[in-house]
Amino acid sequence: MALILGIESSCDETAVAVIDGSAKTLADRIVAQRIASQDEAHRPYGGVVPEIAARAHADVIAPMVAATLADAGLTLDDMDAIAATAGPGLIGGVMVGLVTGKALAMASGKPLIGINHLEGHALSPRLADPTLAYPYCLLLVSGGHCQILEVIGLGQYRRLATTIDDALGEAFDKTAKVLGLGYPGGPAVERLAREGNPRAVPLPRPLVGSGEPHFSFAGLKSAVLRARDSGQYAPADLAASFQQAAIDCVIDRTRGALAACAPNMTALVVAGGVAANAALRGALEALAGEAGLPLVAPPVKLCTDNAAMIGWAGAERFATGQSDPLDLPARPRWPL
Ligand code: KG4
Ligand code: ZN
Repeated sequence: MALILGIESSCDETAVAVIDGSAKTLADRIVAQRIASQDEAHRPYGGVVPEIAARAHADVIAPMVAATLADAGLTLDDMDAIAATAGPGLIGGVMVGLVTGKALAMASGKPLIGINHLEGHALSPRLADPTLAYPYCLLLVSGGHCQILEVIGLGQYRRLATTIDDALGEAFDKTAKVLGLGYPGGPAVERLAREGNPRAVPLPRPLVGSGEPHFSFAGLKSAVLRARDSGQYAPADLAASFQQAAIDCVIDRTRGALAACAPNMTALVVAGGVAANAALRGALEALAGEAGLPLVAPPVKLCTDNAAMIGWAGAERFATGQSDPLDLPARPRWPL
């Protein structure tokens, strides 16, 4: 293991980290990290605007690399490799981070490792606790992704389910918009839901009970809009009922995926921004118990987009001797 500079810019967070792959504690593994959120820039639009995101990444990324190395008390020469997200994501943003990584690799002569952002999320629980052994079942729920994966080993992933329309976080964000709660919406919906009745509004549970393994949230989102427009329900009841319906869908889909996994899973793991939701974590805890598995949820700061998970994925790849050529393409779509 080694010192890795990690760079992430695939959505609306510009992030840089220095990872020590061989350190014994999480605090020592993340030698330094910085995250610049673009929430303010996108708030007026109620969602991420790709062109604004790409420009904002380009404005801050070079000084952030310098500042993060300074925080660590290290220089580029001390790094063993540069790991940058190479996709999937908003292509303008991915290119900013990947080109920065390539330039640093070229200038320093250090190897470049292009990381699949989803692999970053998939391995983030091992950054938090490297004793978490493969294989594990991962529920990845963020603003851009909604998948269940069997994480068999480094570079070995079997996708068991994905969304056929919206990601779970996207459904929270759109519900927040419908309820006038602002962006990003997930935490606001969760706060309001605490004051509401989760059974007040009859809402659909798309695909629950179907033999099909995938997620769908578009119908739920439309039903929330219709319920709001009916004028019959209080916003807190709408928020609570939406959250309950979404969680019921996730639990049903995850139960099916666990049944489809190989029998030797070491844990049920949840990662991605929506893993911050306490009601979801509670429901998953019960489901994992049902399956006789521990529920592993990395600290929320490692669940949302960050560069530490990219640096960690780089450290795991570097340890097995992997690197990429400097003409590695940026990929808007890149299934694991
Ligand atoms: O992983 P992340 O930071 O970025 C993406 O890769 O998308 O996830 C952000 C998503 C947003 O949709 C946000 O609304 C959602 O995670 N989120 C939540 C909560 N905190 C963040 N959703 C529900 N409840 C929360 N507490
Ligand atoms: Zn992400």
